[in-house]
Amino acid sequence: MRVAAIDQGTTSTRCLVVEADGAAWLAASLTHGQRHPAPGWVEHDPRELLRNIRAVLAAAGPVDAIALANQGESCLAWDAVSGEALSPVIVWQDSRTTDALAARSCEDVIRSRAICGLPLDPYFSASKLAWLVENIPAVATARANGRLRLGTTDAYFLDQLTGTFATDLATASRTGLLDLSTGLWSDELCALHGVPRTFLPCIRPSDSGFGQIDGVPVKVSIVDQQAALYGHGCRAPGEAKITFGTGAFLLAVAGPARPDTAGLLPTIAWQCKGEAPVFAVEGGVYDAGAALEWLRRLGLFSQTQELDGFKGPSALSRGLVFVPALSGLAAPYWDRKAAPLFIGMEASTDRRDMVRAALEGIALLTVGLIEAAEAGRGNITDISIDGGLSRSRSFATFLAAASGRAIKVPELHEMTALGLAALCGAETGAARAAFRRFEPDGSVSAQDHARFREAVKKCRNWRA
Ligand code: G3P
Repeated sequence: MRVAAIDQGTTSTRCLVVEADGAAWLAASLTHGQRHPAPGWVEHDPRELLRNIRAVLAAAGPVDAIALANQGESCLAWDAVSGEALSPVIVWQDSRTTDALAARSCEDVIRSRAICGLPLDPYFSASKLAWLVENIPAVATARANGRLRLGTTDAYFLDQLTGTFATDLATASRTGLLDLSTGLWSDELCALHGVPRTFLPCIRPSDSGFGQIDGVPVKVSIVDQQAALYGHGCRAPGEAKITFGTGAFLLAVAGPARPDTAGLLPTIAWQCKGEAPVFAVEGGVYDAGAALEWLRRLGLFSQTQELDGFKGPSALSRGLVFVPALSGLAAPYWDRKAAPLFIGMEASTDRRDMVRAALEGIALLTVGLIEAAEAGRGNITDISIDGGLSRSRSFATFLAAASGRAIKVPELHEMTALGLAALCGAETGAARAAFRRFEPDGSVSAQDHARFREAVKKCRNWRA
């Protein structure tokens, strides 16, 4: 089977073709515009994303199956009859609903956690969908006329490309509207947020088939992070991956029951046809690649090769710390008012020291995720990483030292696409088998960890 695995992510749309023998090649990769119409707002143009999906798919040539990964919580509204987008995509990073959620009662917070497992944070789709309904007149009109469609980006793409208005259970678990105990939209949470349930897509298993594009079946649709977890080969409880993209996202397989999560989040890893859902523990760092991109724009480095080859003692051990809280701190802090912080500079500090401190800060926040995942679900047996930063030996070496655990880095980095192909039933074992292993070398001390914790404390609750 030849599979076109399309990863429609936050910064790009990529299509990897996985051949019948498991060999994989990149057919095309396109970037799209990032709009910031107000502070804290992040939007994409839905038509541009759709065009890019069509273009990367065309570059794949003839295939037997298509699979689609989506950017999780990002969502929009469109017209059920004309298919016309009625809003931009409000991207998962967008924090326009922070104040609205802060005004919620403790009881609302508790009910949200109890039903869908998620805090009332603007990261998730629920408050973004409510914002669309409340603030965009065309959305209100479509609602009044019974022509509204609301959903995460997958539901929009599938509706436009195959005429199937559906989402999968894993993506639904990122909205803040799913009842984890039933696998259905929660009437109570829809009412709490003001999201009309009748306009949401139907929820299906991740590999249940989502229609056809030019006669080729779309076999799989799922969140990119969950696809990457599958692509890393994580199947058993305790197996975890961290993807370093725009943000950094840890997912650890938890098994068939809703896990305890100690500050991280219970989420659906995947659901295959005829099988019970598999749960995962999830935790994110909002700014990983995004923090480095900011430093690049400031002129602290220009080439990705400059993110490697650091020698001598870490910046952290020399007292220089960076907390990459550009969008605040996600799990386990949930503090949107935290601000990025450099501390410990000296007259001799140079650009390279600051870049190194940034890499270390990203690694140290993810160590917090690993520790919280372990506190919740128990032993994390295996950690595999992918994404841009995993290509830096310096980064992987520091992460192994800071986490006190072996870190595996697959030779092939397209884990999301491999996971998509594997969920389609394609052969991907060989591509997953080759990896480099970084062992902890004891170079990050308890004092170093204490110093970073102190810096995190200082950066919290800073913004008005
Ligand atoms: O939760 C957001 C995440 O799924 C987005 O991933 O790879 O598009 O940055 P990515």
